[in-house]
Amino acid sequence: MKKQPGWALPSLKEAQVRTHKQSQIEKGLFEIPTEAKLLGQGKRYYLRTYGCQANQRDSETLAGIMEALCFTPCEDAEQADVILLNTCAIRKNAEDKVLGELGQLKRLKKENPDLVIGICGCMSQEEAIIDTLLTHYRHVELIFGTHNLHRLPILLYQVMTTHKKVIEVYSKEGEVIENLPVIRFDSHKAWVNIMYGCDKFCTYCIVPYTRGKERSRMMEDILEEVRTLKAQGFHEITLLGQNVNAYGKDLGLAGGFAKLLAEVAQIGIARVRFMTSHPWDFTDEMIDVIARYDNIMPFIHLPVQSGDSDILKLMGRRYTIEEYKKLYDKITSNIKNCAFSTDIIVGFPNESEAQFQHTLDIVDYCKFDNAFTFIYSPREGTPAAKMADNVPLAVKQERLQRLNEKTNYYTHMQNEKYRGKIVTVLVDGFSKKNDQVYSGHTDTNKLVNFIGKDVKAGDFVEVEITDVKTWSLDGKQV
Ligand code: SAH
Ligand code: SF4
Ligand code: F3S
Repeated sequence: MKKQPGWALPSLKEAQVRTHKQSQIEKGLFEIPTEAKLLGQGKRYYLRTYGCQANQRDSETLAGIMEALCFTPCEDAEQADVILLNTCAIRKNAEDKVLGELGQLKRLKKENPDLVIGICGCMSQEEAIIDTLLTHYRHVELIFGTHNLHRLPILLYQVMTTHKKVIEVYSKEGEVIENLPVIRFDSHKAWVNIMYGCDKFCTYCIVPYTRGKERSRMMEDILEEVRTLKAQGFHEITLLGQNVNAYGKDLGLAGGFAKLLAEVAQIGIARVRFMTSHPWDFTDEMIDVIARYDNIMPFIHLPVQSGDSDILKLMGRRYTIEEYKKLYDKITSNIKNCAFSTDIIVGFPNESEAQFQHTLDIVDYCKFDNAFTFIYSPREGTPAAKMADNVPLAVKQERLQRLNEKTNYYTHMQNEKYRGKIVTVLVDGFSKKNDQVYSGHTDTNKLVNFIGKDVKAGDFVEVEITDVKTWSLDGKQV
């Protein structure tokens, strides 16, 4: 399909550029044009989210906007008048999932020509994906990006009234946009964005291109949101950023994340979490604050990516494996019973067997409570995608399997420590598999399934652990 006038198309090249100009904080940018105020009356929307917590939180905003337009949510795409897929571009298989789903939706569009299918999130930010959508997925009529969620009312109004394709993707992030509507998907836990974007440019990663430069929210806006959540009865918040350690740098804020974390803890919400913290720039002040406040949870997601310093260098991770170990040691000796999770990539271009062995070694050293492991996936536009790669896929798959055996072993081993212990669980509700059983999480983020009485989501319950599995703990209320 030919490019149409009026479309704003993404460019990864443009998205790569960083300026030192401080971002504007925009508090009045969101509005619903009069003609769109009742756009969703009598209509239903179906929203599906892929990818990380940043996308989960964005979907809560999308839901907020849709409901402000009078749409009601539905659980089944077949029933929907508007379908939105909030997509992830982190690996090829993440994109394939979305394209697979889009293929399925073709039939619905045929049956109901008024149906609007929209794509947003990180895939929208890639020009190659836009081409694919235009040539092979013509039933997609609305495409917008990660920087203009606030434009959804007007964009949707245009599609629904004209049924002409609308594409609006900005490559340059501008503002930090406050005061967007939100529907929280959980009743007692909430995500709180503290910053957007990423400036780390790890050589394999697409996020700095799809999410733009690092932009911090004002500390007072974050604290106000947390106070409101507490007043609304939320018991747990997770401070979100691709790299929370960098919080406040763009604002010239001294003390940055450590200061924010302490201020948030003092508001007194029962559980405070944060993610993700990059091993680089994890300051002593941060460790102090986490150790000092009981309501900051002893659980740290600390992605290592590789156990080999040469690979880490090629990845642009800015730390050696010795520095990672030192940080790990410092955290474990200062924070009691701290649990760790991590992310690991196998099969980075030209990774040798010996280098992979170093990755197994770091897993032996840290004995992670949980590890998210991935086969390297080349992302167009990133520096690593241009690197020659002599590692066959079969070798990568075999390495992943060996790595998983090891990480699963330690996950189970760490869980064994809980056998017979009494832990405090924040209840999420009934276990997904069995409605006689409740489930929730410990302070260290372990999933606990337990037998209890008159328990509801949002309760704190003391649970004795009676059995231990790799992915969960079993117990009974005491
Ligand atoms: N900001 C976070 C990571 C977000 S992406 C951090 O730096 O810790 C989540 C994880 O996806 C990464 O930690 C990495 O392990 C994995 N990942 C990112 N790009 C990838 C790629 N091209 N191939 C395979 N895994 C990738
Ligand atoms: Fe990607 Fe690295 Fe930024 Fe994490 S820190 S989002 S891995 S570029
Ligand atoms: Fe995916 Fe975008 Fe998150 S690429 S992991 S949804 S920032």
